[in-house]
Amino acid sequence: MDALIREWLNVGLRWVHVIAGIGWIGTSLYFMWLDASLTKPNPPRARVEGETWLLHSGGFYLVERRQLPPGQLPSPIHWFKWEAAMTWLTGFPLLVLVYYTTRGVYLVDPAVSSITPGAAVLVGIGLLVVSWAGYDLLWTSPLAREGRRAAAVLSWAVLFAVVYALTHVLSGRAAYIHVGAMLGTIMVANVWMRIVPAQREIIAAAEAGRTPDRTLSMRAKQRSTHNSYVTFPVIFMMLSNHYPGTYGHPLNWLILALLIVVGAGVRHVMIAREKGRPADWWLLPVTAALAAVVYLTSPAWLGGTTRGGEPVAFASVKDVIDRRCVSCHSRTPTDDIFRIAPNGVTFDTPESIRARAETIRARTVVLRNMPLGNKTGMTDAERGLLARWLDQEAR
Ligand code: HEC
Repeated sequence: MDALIREWLNVGLRWVHVIAGIGWIGTSLYFMWLDASLTKPNPPRARVEGETWLLHSGGFYLVERRQLPPGQLPSPIHWFKWEAAMTWLTGFPLLVLVYYTTRGVYLVDPAVSSITPGAAVLVGIGLLVVSWAGYDLLWTSPLAREGRRAAAVLSWAVLFAVVYALTHVLSGRAAYIHVGAMLGTIMVANVWMRIVPAQREIIAAAEAGRTPDRTLSMRAKQRSTHNSYVTFPVIFMMLSNHYPGTYGHPLNWLILALLIVVGAGVRHVMIAREKGRPADWWLLPVTAALAAVVYLTSPAWLGGTTRGGEPVAFASVKDVIDRRCVSCHSRTPTDDIFRIAPNGVTFDTPESIRARAETIRARTVVLRNMPLGNKTGMTDAERGLLARWLDQEAR
């Protein structure tokens, strides 16, 4: 496909994806907050369960949560369901555009596994389908009804197992975004297959003047709670491709697992406060997980510097970069996929190489995720040469 069309499709899909996602997560955080902030009206009013005053931009708003009188349905009613749908409908094509139609450059990494790009696409799409089916089956099963805790423990365990497995099959970057896509897909399916049908039932019941089927709305409430726990981790995964220090780390599965604990832990503290049952002690494991991530990604843990060795002439460094990097990182790339220098990073001149010395170290010596998928076949000896030169420069 023409590079220009790809680029603009990418911009367009991502732009709408982010806007829809902000709308979706914004409204869900708002409603969680609202439910927690409503107070009983004083004096009580018929059918008003709770109310609160809000101030926003130019005016005051009175929000009430009400029970409807039998047989009366207000109109129009806003549902807040399209944000979720739009987030998925732009997110999935974006996944296809970036990961499934680029001959595996982002999807697979020969240093991780020998899976072919075609098989990796099947793993990715299969994961989205199977994970929703399995999750929904578990949470509609008797186990979830009788042992909610056991079902929750099982769900978290499976999530961490998926994190571990994917990071050993796909490239680190693709593994991260696929865990995000999996959770995002479950979240959207929760909205459309469980929460919206429950709302339809509430509406049908209100119209018919009968009491709605409680099990549907209980299940809907449970699914919104699940969604809210994974929201923060998913947002990190959506942004993770900016942070090669995480997905490109030798222990990238552990880093992601810890960041999931951080995101879900923070959310847990917020939800507990909203419910009036503070669980702030959760900030302890959250802080510990965060500290562990920072330590694991630090030079103290990663190493990546050399001691001594032959002095390296810049000419041989330039030679390695010319052979292994400038097919992509150039003002005139020759790569079949990257027609524009990735992230605008070029290594055409000695100055441009020197100026990025530290990021070159990070990507080729420490994380070893450049050249991308080692497409240009960089050898360990060449990485060693770059490392010695970088240390020499740093001294
Ligand atoms: C097949 C194409 C390709 C080759 C070859 C390649 N890169 Fe990259 N590089 C990319 C892409 C795509 C990105 C952006 C995605 C990312 O950050 O992982 C990137 C990003 C980078 C970045 C981060 C830039 C920034 O500041 O955001 C650095 C540094 C880098 N490459 C260095 C190198 C070095 C050094 C080599 C040679 C040893 C190399 N790359 C070879 C495709 C390539």
